[in-house]
Amino acid sequence: MLKCVLMIVCLLSIAAQAQELSFFKKCPNPSVVSNLDANRYLGKWYENRKYFAIFQFGGRCASAKYSDAGNGLIKVENNQLNIFGKPSGVVGQAKFANPSSREGKLSVSFSSPTPYANNSNAVTDSNYWVLDTDYNSYAVVWSCTSALIANIQFMWVLTRDPQPSEALVNKTLTIIRNKGLDPTRLSITDQNNCK
Ligand SMILES: *[C@@H]1O[C@H](CO)[C@@H](O)[C@H](O)[C@H]1NC(C)=O
Ligand SMILES: *[C@@H]1O[C@H](CO)[C@@H](O)[C@H](O)[C@H]1NC(C)=O
Repeated sequence: MLKCVLMIVCLLSIAAQAQELSFFKKCPNPSVVSNLDANRYLGKWYENRKYFAIFQFGGRCASAKYSDAGNGLIKVENNQLNIFGKPSGVVGQAKFANPSSREGKLSVSFSSPTPYANNSNAVTDSNYWVLDTDYNSYAVVWSCTSALIANIQFMWVLTRDPQPSEALVNKTLTIIRNKGLDPTRLSITDQNNCK
């Protein structure tokens, strides 16, 4: 029993350092892209930085590919090399959270190969907010989940170029700061020797 309690405390403290975990606070509500052009957002993005996420542990060369899946759906293919250097990936689907608005708030599901096949809401939806993008060089993506006693935030800086300029990265960090969010916890994703 004690072991179990210690384990939970330990896991929580790892999580607190890793994702942006805030106890006793609701999710903040940063502004998002007001009119997201999904077509221009499609294509391949490289993960430049992220809040450390347990489910991506040890990964490098992470990328996301978005393509048109018809019916207002976007196919999502996330790939990375795992700690053994082996390719690993997941496929999911995304859609606008509010179909009548082009606001940059999407929901993403990886629950089954075609979670939105009948346009119902998948149970495992997670939010995917595009805070800012210029479509051809960077995107800042954020997600927050309110749990019982905490909120957990995820953030990704995505770039079209796997090796973006320092100026571009600085620009994204400034955007994040200006949204009232914390860019200091982002960790750099290794995009070297990815072939
Ligand atoms: C459609 O959605 C419902 C939930 O609303 C689910 O029970 C059903 O299995 C889904 N059907 C398919 C073909 O995915
Ligand atoms: C980026 O930001 C860092 C830290 O603030 C600064 O030292 C560096 O000069 C900046 N680089 C560019 C190209 O703006």
